[in-house]
Amino acid sequence: MRIDILSVLPELLQSPFEHSIMKRAQDKGLLTVVVHPLRKWAVNEYGMIDDYQYGGGAGMVMMCEPLAKAIEELSAERKYDEIIYLTPDGERLNQKISNSLSLKGNLLMICGHYKGIDERIRTNYVTKEISIGDYVLSGGELPAAVLVDSIGRLLPGVLNDETSALFDSFQDNLLAPPVYTRPVDFRGWKVPDILMSGDHKKIEEWRHEQSVLRTKERRPDLLEE
Ligand code: ADE
Repeated sequence: MRIDILSVLPELLQSPFEHSIMKRAQDKGLLTVVVHPLRKWAVNEYGMIDDYQYGGGAGMVMMCEPLAKAIEELSAERKYDEIIYLTPDGERLNQKISNSLSLKGNLLMICGHYKGIDERIRTNYVTKEISIGDYVLSGGELPAAVLVDSIGRLLPGVLNDETSALFDSFQDNLLAPPVYTRPVDFRGWKVPDILMSGDHKKIEEWRHEQSVLRTKERRPDLLEE
């Protein structure tokens, strides 16, 4: 999979993909992430990419021209399955969306700043709008990093144990069960006996029970879906 990202702050997106699982995905050739500085398509030599909004009001708006030119130039090189704008008024990200995006070949992500991007770019180029939650961040870079991570780890071959993403929280609309590692007894706090029983069938049943219990307690809305 290839993911291109348009950003006015490309530096913000350097580190997130250079470590751990995202690094491994790229080293294995399963994922390519390319961050493009939007100012490359600025309207003047001062790097202008935003302007005051029509109708008045505080806050700048990202202009049509740099975005349109960037999208058109990148789209001439490859066909994008989705052009995604990260925005707090987009569809709220969940595991189902990440699962479905992980099946695509090429994605283009647009990070907004200030008051956001000119509505005409949303209408005429953007195919999907995603929010990572009901709170407002300073820009779309961290949301883009979240989205890339949640998609990247689902690509076949990225995780060591191919099945492990299947048991993540939210797959099957259930939260993950509690997990334990050594020692068996830490300051008198013990690991549940069942996990030491060696009875894999019983352990799986226990884990499922715990998942359901945890979901009922913490996220009953997931069980209603
Ligand atoms: N940009 C600013 N806040 C955001 C959010 N919550 N989700 C996606 N993009 C954003």
